[in-house]
Amino acid sequence: MNCRSITLLTATLISLSAIGDAVAQNVKIDAGNTTLVLEAEKGKKLRNLYYGTKISDTDAAGLRSALGKGYNAYPDYGMITVPETALSMIHGDGNMTLDLRVDNVAERKDKDGNVTEITLKDTYYPVSVKVNYKTYPGEDVMETWTEITNNENSPVTLTRFASGHLPIRGGNVWLSQLYGSAKNESRLESAPLGHGMKVIKNRDGIRNSHTAHSEVMFSLDGKPSDRTGRTIGAALCYGGNYKLRIDTDNSNNHYFFAGINEDDSQYHLAPGETFKTPELALTYSSDGTGGVSRSFHRWARNHKIAHGDKERKVLLNSWEGVYFKINEKEMNNMMKNIADMGGELFVMDDGWFGVKYPRDNSKAGLGDWTVDTRKLPKGINGLIKEAKKNKIDFGIWIEPEMVNTKSELYEKYPEYVIKPEHREALTGRGGTQLVLDMANPAVQDIVFNIVDTLMTKYPEIDYIKWDANMDIKNHGSQYLTADNQSHLFIDYHKGLAKALDRIREKYPDVTIQACASGGARANYGIMPWFDEFWVSDNTDALQRIYMQWGASYFFPAMTMASHISASPNHQTHRRIPIKYRTDVAMSGRLGMEIQPDDMTDAEKAQTRKAIAEYKEIRPVVQFGDLYRLLSPYDEKGLASLMYVAPQKDKAVFYWWKTRAFYNDMLPLVPMDGLDPDKTYTIRELNRIDRKPLPFEGKSFSGKFLMENGLEIPYNHDLPKADQTDWSSRVLYLEAN
Ligand code: GLA
Repeated sequence: MNCRSITLLTATLISLSAIGDAVAQNVKIDAGNTTLVLEAEKGKKLRNLYYGTKISDTDAAGLRSALGKGYNAYPDYGMITVPETALSMIHGDGNMTLDLRVDNVAERKDKDGNVTEITLKDTYYPVSVKVNYKTYPGEDVMETWTEITNNENSPVTLTRFASGHLPIRGGNVWLSQLYGSAKNESRLESAPLGHGMKVIKNRDGIRNSHTAHSEVMFSLDGKPSDRTGRTIGAALCYGGNYKLRIDTDNSNNHYFFAGINEDDSQYHLAPGETFKTPELALTYSSDGTGGVSRSFHRWARNHKIAHGDKERKVLLNSWEGVYFKINEKEMNNMMKNIADMGGELFVMDDGWFGVKYPRDNSKAGLGDWTVDTRKLPKGINGLIKEAKKNKIDFGIWIEPEMVNTKSELYEKYPEYVIKPEHREALTGRGGTQLVLDMANPAVQDIVFNIVDTLMTKYPEIDYIKWDANMDIKNHGSQYLTADNQSHLFIDYHKGLAKALDRIREKYPDVTIQACASGGARANYGIMPWFDEFWVSDNTDALQRIYMQWGASYFFPAMTMASHISASPNHQTHRRIPIKYRTDVAMSGRLGMEIQPDDMTDAEKAQTRKAIAEYKEIRPVVQFGDLYRLLSPYDEKGLASLMYVAPQKDKAVFYWWKTRAFYNDMLPLVPMDGLDPDKTYTIRELNRIDRKPLPFEGKSFSGKFLMENGLEIPYNHDLPKADQTDWSSRVLYLEAN
């Protein structure tokens, strides 16, 4: 075929003859090992011809003959009313139709990547939609979003505004998604896609991953595997209400749409205004769900989380140790203890603030971020001094978007809370909590000032735990005009983004954790301002294996705050030995959430050793590639995963028994991701057994380990009195 290709920055424009009389132009966008091909012929609909593994320009040029005419890339509503659409609007004159056609293809350099912009224009109305595709050098992930501009002379109303659409050819396609609830977040579920409409949605208003997540994977070759199979990953980068739709129609094909949830959120676009939808990140791998996870993790570390190139510190958080009973003696004691065990940071959680309305429980104080000197006579500076004495850093908890009715802030500014007119606002936690209206610029200032004041007064604060413990219960902004009340859910997040931008501009270095009643803010809409998220308020090690497994589908280990807590566990009341609790916490961003005074000397000694060993493997865990080996969801009695350093010279292998049945015949777990030609020496970390494992200090080829694995004893070798039904292993592999 005679095809001309013009290489711009990353996208290639290929002129195609032989499509009837017309000459179509294919836009080929390569992202790492993946390619997207669109047909963008001026005056025609934009068509998606291909998304998958990287292909050559020659193959791209022949796509129409090889795979057919493709699908509308960004379907608009009105001229064809039956199929699901990405975009619908009501024009100023009441007309509900759109007919968007390709007008222009352009490319621009962004600060860290390249953006291909395809402008679609309506054939009658002065409305345009820019469909953007962003790629990053070396990343397999690309992002798509749209910018919808109203050039009419009266407002238009957007009634649906997906970020992107991806057609997936019918076959044996399975969907993997995360679901859950408070203290049981990020559960994994996979099922074949049947006919009809599958909707995954969120309507919390503030946080969006307590229940379902806005990230999914599609396995194109049947039941998902972490090791093989063509797989597409999709992550909507948004912190607010979302809706993912998968329509499987009579053609047996699947049409995937992802965007802001338009329910109760019609958006009025004034003349000249542009509405930007959040990014939808897409990736493709032939190496199964594992391949997709690794691509997301790399992209996240490099571009979508704060400080993705910096090691996370080992910390102690005060919450499960003392809950609201913050006091100086206790804080100082905790700091000494975590420093003694080798930790690097102490975080004082909820309960430290409120003067007129002290924060002694969840009923009062939110909004009044002044230190309670009854509890902390020497103030924050006293604590920072003590932290310094212990050679650790200091961090603090805040919940800036929220207020209690029992607070000075609420007394002064009742108009700043979310509340419908003519009605009393429904309260949340403690019976007195309300949400501040982030749509209001004055509230954005307040939120910025909370952080600014803390950081100005106490510049040594190293870490902030930013919590958000309430949803939008009633629909009502006291700031937005009556005709724009439907903007509340969206403008809340626009306002939050503005405040966070200001915070990050002034305080780029401080570590910030996204917490929201546990794991309700694990999403790539919020993560660019945050370093990590609190996976769950459930710290039970066994249940954490399931939750962290699910979260690992999309989020790298360095973002997953994973803490050693008490036994019996405060949520499940399960008794788990310190060894197992530690081995689970060591697979994420290790921390502690415990009253150290309740630990025995032996437990402290063991934790000290584990922290030292974690520091050794930290670069591999936090920057390495994840290989999930055996899923806890397969209920084989085991869960196992490993991290491999990019140079494949080091790896850490985790093995956790998930049940204790006699003669259970646990499977042997072949490793993955190693260099078959390298030889690795095995060393057990966090060892408690009297005798070393048979393969301790022995060396094996990567090939052998990946084809066989290692036979691991079902129990620990301990004196009878110390024996339990729990068993876990962490092995460090170093290439010779
Ligand atoms: C939320 C968080 C907890 C803790 C409490 C404090 O529930 O998820 O980790 O910070 O708030 O009130």
